[in-house]
Amino acid sequence: MLVDQFCFSLDVSKLKEGSVVWQSPSNIALVKYWGKKEHQIPENTSISFTLNECKTITTLTFTKKKLTENFSFQVFLDEKPKPDFQPKISTFFKRIEAYLPFLKHYHFVIKTKNTFPHSSGIASSASGMSALALCLMSVEKLHNPEMTQEYFNKKASFLARLGSGSACRSIEGSLVVWGNHSEIEGSSELYGIKYPYQVHDNFNNFNDTILLVDKGEKQVSSTVGHNLMHGHPFAKNRFAQAEENISKLKSILASGDLNAFVELVESEALTLHAMMMTSLPYFILMKPNTLEIINKIWQFRNETGLPICFTLDAGANVHVLYPEKDEEKILKFINTELVAYCQNGHYICDKIGFGAKKQ
Ligand code: PMV
Repeated sequence: MLVDQFCFSLDVSKLKEGSVVWQSPSNIALVKYWGKKEHQIPENTSISFTLNECKTITTLTFTKKKLTENFSFQVFLDEKPKPDFQPKISTFFKRIEAYLPFLKHYHFVIKTKNTFPHSSGIASSASGMSALALCLMSVEKLHNPEMTQEYFNKKASFLARLGSGSACRSIEGSLVVWGNHSEIEGSSELYGIKYPYQVHDNFNNFNDTILLVDKGEKQVSSTVGHNLMHGHPFAKNRFAQAEENISKLKSILASGDLNAFVELVESEALTLHAMMMTSLPYFILMKPNTLEIINKIWQFRNETGLPICFTLDAGANVHVLYPEKDEEKILKFINTELVAYCQNGHYICDKIGFGAKKQ
């Protein structure tokens, strides 16, 4: 599958060397992507909040070399060589080679760091792959300076998707949709787009406090996880449900109905985990403390009426979502009631951001 709009030809003779730097955030899905077809095409539409503080900062330095058969690059994390990142980046380069014909003409040094702790159980693939895709787009732009900003962002998201699906939702905008949905104009399964409609003030300045329940390595890699949806007995219904939830969320985002938002977001998180519990092989990625936290959130919400809710990634950590205006009361609750369930009492305060930035 070759997508013509992102192919270009070039003259590599002019650009000998250079360096570019991008910072790109992580994102948290409200309607989850779980299940994909070939070429990283999602089985259903997803939508996410872009984070602000949890991000990857990547410097890409490139030096012209003779054209060779293989890619030539080195990777550093926090200034130390990171050879275990090599295979994932090689696979990424292979997938995007047709769209970036300069890749084999340069040697690359990729220096990357995350603002969140390395072993926090927070997936860095969305921020990491989007930062790298943006750096590569900056190199393309040096070859092809007349490209528009719109094309730059679209192609950066397209490339990031080929590194890690959810990474395509980390380029631009606070709310990003990925997947071809009939009610979201301009949406595509090839790249993420900024949510194109007016959003009620209730959803401006949302907070995401990430409770680190388990800081270990992921128990199930995303690749294994997505594959579990092939032949899954509930797959068809799940994919249809996600499309319906996008339509429902569209009305919720317009009306500002926080109760409906809480219900939809929590149901999506539990459905994601239900898919893992009912696949073969099956997994339980929540830990006892995940459930303790969920129950405490439900109790607190019943008692106070505050619009606090949780969502989960493919792991045990809990993302607590709530409007900024309730921050004081909710942080007090987190500090007195929830912190005891976090590994070493650790949590990360984040909020909705606007997307990646060139440095
Ligand atoms: O981008 P991947 O392949 O690591 O998949 C991420 C899947 C979830 O984080 C569980 C859900 C989502 O939509 O981000």
